[in-house]
Amino acid sequence: MKLLLREKEVQKKVRQLARKISADLAGKEVLLVGVLKGAFIFMADLARSMESPVSYGSGTVSSGKVKITKDLETSLRGKDVLIVEDIIDTGVTLRYLFRRLKARRPRSLRSVALLDKPSRRKVPFRPDYVGFTVEDLFVVGYGLDCNEEFRNLRGIYVVK
Ligand code: IMP
Ligand code: MG
Repeated sequence: MKLLLREKEVQKKVRQLARKISADLAGKEVLLVGVLKGAFIFMADLARSMESPVSYGSGTVSSGKVKITKDLETSLRGKDVLIVEDIIDTGVTLRYLFRRLKARRPRSLRSVALLDKPSRRKVPFRPDYVGFTVEDLFVVGYGLDCNEEFRNLRGIYVVK
């Protein structure tokens, strides 16, 4: 494995994203919706860096043919919702989730991805906020796994 982004760079970027999102949603309470499992570390750090008040929900998805395996327990109606995702690859997961959650009538719906691999898109999807744009590489760490391993690494690494 090769180091791609060290812990300090990741932490700095998460704080920048939190600041930008808090400014854009100034005065509003933000409902963070984490896409589990991969987003759990990013969401924890993002939530702690936000200046806006946050509440929190999460669900799990299985990739491949996207399926919600554990849905949200919170209503989204009238809320300012931010979907928090670790990485966007083909775009299939977020495009699907975005449409599903939009139908629940939030006041606003945005998305943030720590990492984005735009060259891999199969369906169009543009997140509102992106941490790092990366090449077509498989990465692990900071929540991201390879067969459930390496999620606990503090930096982000490329698997060779
Ligand atoms: P998409 O639906 O193809 O955009 O896939 C997004 C999901 O695939 C992410 O939420 C990750 O769980 C997984 N994924 C995509 N690329 C990587 C990677 O480089 N490392 C680890 N997981 C990845
Ligand atoms: Mg994921």
